[in-house]
Amino acid sequence: MALQKRDLIFVAIMIAVLGTFFLISGQEKTTRVPFDNIHQKYYPIIRNEGKKAGEKFCKECHTEEKIPFPPKHPPKFRCLFCHKLTEH
Ligand code: HEC
Ligand code: HEC
Repeated sequence: MALQKRDLIFVAIMIAVLGTFFLISGQEKTTRVPFDNIHQKYYPIIRNEGKKAGEKFCKECHTEEKIPFPPKHPPKFRCLFCHKLTEH
C-alpha cells in the first residue's frame, strides 16, 4: 500500500498540532515570579499598571553581575511574558 500524499499532509498537521501543545505546556512550566518579600511588592504594580510597568524593576537585581541567569536563558526583554505571577 503506497503512502498517499494525503496521508503525509495528515501526518504533517498532526505534528504541527502536537508541537503546539508541547510548546504551550513548556511555557506553563517556566518558573513563576515568587510571591515572597522581594517580589510581593511588584504584584500590585503588575496587576494595576501592567506587565511593562512591573518589568522595569526586574533588572535592578536580575543582571549577570548580581543574580546570574541560568545558562541558555532565552532572550529576556519581556520577563513577564514567560514568568507568570503565582496564584495566591
Ligand atoms: C530587589 C531585587 C529583585 C527584584 C527587583 C526582582 N527580583 Fe526576582 N529574585 C531576586 C532574588 C534574590 C531571587 C532568588 C531568591 C528568591 O527566590 O526569592 C529571585 C528569584 C526570581 C525568580 C526565580 C524563582 C525560583 O523559584 O527560582 C524569578 C522567576 C524571578 N526572580 C523573577 C523576577 C521578575 C520577573 C522580576 C520583575 C517583576 C523580579 N524577579 C524582580 C531578587 C529580585
Ligand atoms: C522567552 C521566555 C523568557 C523570558 C522573556 C524571560 N525568561 Fe527567565 N527563564 C525562562 C526559562 C525557560 C527559564 C529556565 C528555567 C525555567 O523553567 O524557569 C528561565 C529561568 C529564569 C530564572 C532562574 C529560575 C530558576 O528556576 O532558577 C530567573 C531568575 C529568570 N529566568 C528571570 C528572568 C527575568 C528577570 C527576566 C526579564 C529580564 C526573564 N527571566 C525573562 C524563560 C524566560
